[in-house]
Amino acid sequence: MSHREQDRVRIFDTTLRDGEQSPGASMTLEEKLRIAEQLEAMGVDVIEAGFAIASNGDFECVRQIAERIRNSTVCSLARAALGDIDRAAEAIKPARSGRIHTFIATSPLHMKVKLQMEPDAVLDAIHQSVSHARRFTDDVEWSAEDATRTETDFLYRAVDTAIRAGATTINLPDTVGYATPDEYGQMYRDVIKNVSNADKAVFSTHCHNDLGLAVANSLAGVMGGARQIECTINGIGERAGNAAMEEVVMALKTRADAMPFHTNIVSTEISKASKLVSLVTGFSVQNNKAIVGANAFAHESGIHQDGVLKAAETYEIMTPESVGVTKTTLVLGKLSGRAAFADKLKELGYELGDNAFQDCFRRFKELADRKKTIYDEDIVALVDDEVATSENRLQVVALNTHSSSSGTAVADLTMKIDDEEKKTVVYGSGPVDAVFNAIKELVEFDPHLVLFQVHAVTHGTDAQAECTVRLEENGRTVNGQGAHEDTVTAAARAYVAAANKLLVKREKTMPDPIVAAG
Ligand code: KIV
Ligand code: ZN
Repeated sequence: MSHREQDRVRIFDTTLRDGEQSPGASMTLEEKLRIAEQLEAMGVDVIEAGFAIASNGDFECVRQIAERIRNSTVCSLARAALGDIDRAAEAIKPARSGRIHTFIATSPLHMKVKLQMEPDAVLDAIHQSVSHARRFTDDVEWSAEDATRTETDFLYRAVDTAIRAGATTINLPDTVGYATPDEYGQMYRDVIKNVSNADKAVFSTHCHNDLGLAVANSLAGVMGGARQIECTINGIGERAGNAAMEEVVMALKTRADAMPFHTNIVSTEISKASKLVSLVTGFSVQNNKAIVGANAFAHESGIHQDGVLKAAETYEIMTPESVGVTKTTLVLGKLSGRAAFADKLKELGYELGDNAFQDCFRRFKELADRKKTIYDEDIVALVDDEVATSENRLQVVALNTHSSSSGTAVADLTMKIDDEEKKTVVYGSGPVDAVFNAIKELVEFDPHLVLFQVHAVTHGTDAQAECTVRLEENGRTVNGQGAHEDTVTAAARAYVAAANKLLVKREKTMPDPIVAAG
């Protein structure tokens, strides 16, 4: 593998900006901070933390991430408008290393229909926006939205204008996921050859996955001369998503013989990042997803199993350990004490305060009484659930449900609402319906249930259930998770976790986003 600096591909993660544009993927400030910290731990070069002008909430996320993150560059998106750029500059001010990423569309269709601007006016806007951004930072990225449907000569002029105005990174997005790998790679070769000052900037790829080509196109862009890839964890993003970071990173690492480039990503952190993004967004990862799917390293057929036992390389082109997948281990039992539990939490990367530790330990003991074998996954689910549901305005105190195959179900629920206990008994068509109705009655609200999802944390009928609930109210979407060995209790905890976030969002009365970018 080459370690020359000119062969290094920078990883620009846009999970928190383009990724959050996936319908339903909204994240809270705390969740974004957690993800940003994980991205930093992975060695991501640039974290696109949001679109500062879009809302007060977005601004605050970018600002707090800029304050917290020390080893990655923190970036905010901005349209080619002075107000957008001022807001982005303000948000990244606390960053040790901050970037402004400004963009404008350059394809004939977008210029005419969306912007209603003549090409010369677009060139002026590029010059003004990039020069303005340079007043705040030396690190300015400019993107030609819909670059792959832009006329070649106009693209050269636009890139030339941006670099002259001071852009240090030039991004040529395949905004609509239309290009083929050959075309996308050739676009970089052509631009780099025909723009006289191209050597003054780093070129970047940004690919959407509408035809399933985002990763192939990103790699073709690198072969064509790009040295930055924009991507998201699990490939989440607008429509069919963006290029998946775990796939581009592992493709470059595994096939360094064919693609002699390297990244600074700590690949053993990939699995953790994938699980975190999936948990926070409620988007489960398909089993056969490359690198991070549950079956990515599973060998089902006898011939394959036999081969892998003899020599892993027979059917494994990379090891599960290289992406942070460790064998499921039997961890603790009924007799494990506080010290063993504390050690396990440390190994799993948790640092809990005293109260949270005591609550988690109590729940672990309760779980161990009911469940024979406790795995790492059980501990992760339990701690994530406890952290998400404690110290909130709404809490489940007690829940009893009764259901039968031949009649309605009933839920008897006690909740703590702002420190006051309230109780109700409500009917429903099934136990989950009854519990959700009971919560709505006690909280006195009626949000739209967008998603209800259940999965088993481990194998066996005594496995904990992990539930995700997505709620929507007045254009605000939130996700909540809950885990418990009783599936209906897990569902209730997930609903209440989402409801708590909705209350926080209501309090902050964030204005709706003013604009979305591809
Ligand atoms: O897809 C796209 O064109 C974008 C730009 C705003 C970079 O996301
Ligand atoms: Zn995009």
